[in-house]
Amino acid sequence: MDKPRVFVTRRIPEEGIAVLERMAEVTIWTDELPPPHEILLREVMRSDGLLCMLTDKIDIDVMDAGPNLKVISNYAVGVDNIDVQAATDRGIAVGNTPGVLTETTADLAFALLLATARRIVEADKYLRACGWRAWGPTLFLGQDAHNATLGIVGMGRIGREMARRAKGFSMPILYTNPSPSPEVEEEFGAKRVSLDDLLRQSDFVSIHTPLTPETRHLISEREFDLMKPTAILINTARGPIVDQKALYQALSNGKIAGAGLDVFEEEPVDCGDPLLALDNVVAVPHIGSASVATRTKMAVMAAENIIAGLKSEPLPHPVNTVSIPGGTK
Ligand code: GLV
Ligand code: GLV
Repeated sequence: MDKPRVFVTRRIPEEGIAVLERMAEVTIWTDELPPPHEILLREVMRSDGLLCMLTDKIDIDVMDAGPNLKVISNYAVGVDNIDVQAATDRGIAVGNTPGVLTETTADLAFALLLATARRIVEADKYLRACGWRAWGPTLFLGQDAHNATLGIVGMGRIGREMARRAKGFSMPILYTNPSPSPEVEEEFGAKRVSLDDLLRQSDFVSIHTPLTPETRHLISEREFDLMKPTAILINTARGPIVDQKALYQALSNGKIAGAGLDVFEEEPVDCGDPLLALDNVVAVPHIGSASVATRTKMAVMAAENIIAGLKSEPLPHPVNTVSIPGGTK
């Protein structure tokens, strides 16, 4: 019997490819940019499994292009790039990479919090531009992270790790979540409040919800109006959760003090975007999970999802539930 075919939409760490190659014939899109839509359709047409990135929009067209497509494995925890309902309707299993990137992403969120509060990037640029003449009593005054109130929007796995980091900085923690999280309340003294109260009271607001129709533009003009003028917004979740135009207005009108951003409404963000001209913004290119160890673990997990799907077994890290009749689809 022919080996099943798997299309991988970008180079991922070798460890993942090795897992796939034990069972499948693997085609890898090796370009730095995502495969164009036509290429994706063409490859899916002859594939049994698709290992894709958050930059690939996996819609009905893509799924319907693949008569043999049994499994879609996203090299990410967020799956807003995939029409999961359409996959379920077609009996296609969808998997993701939760858990392994939780702490790595919280590390980055905390790094952005500190970098924005203490103006690290601005100060680094100033020094390199030969601006440093003498130690200065008022040079680059920033804000303290320790003892400041952190508002965590979305207390999932990453939110919880953010709370753990904040606890080390003696930060009082407020959070919003659809349901209470008694463990974080007990372990970190976190208090569940309404979003409006969180915005009014927090010195730092960090977003950790998935992108869904309900969370799109969750933070917009009205919400910035509620925030403290000294507040700093951190977003390592998904760009469209924040209304980026409203964010620009809030930052340039002094409604809030700064923002640390790993994600943008459009990615890559346009290099000429006015947001990037603001000194009180620290911006990095969607690198939340980007540590060597985590990206390697993600590759193996994503590959294991594919292998299970090809064997018509339940995925180890499933996003949907489908019953795949033994071996055929
Ligand atoms: C990254 O943004 C992910 O969802 O894994
Ligand atoms: C992702 O790991 C989450 O916060 O649920």
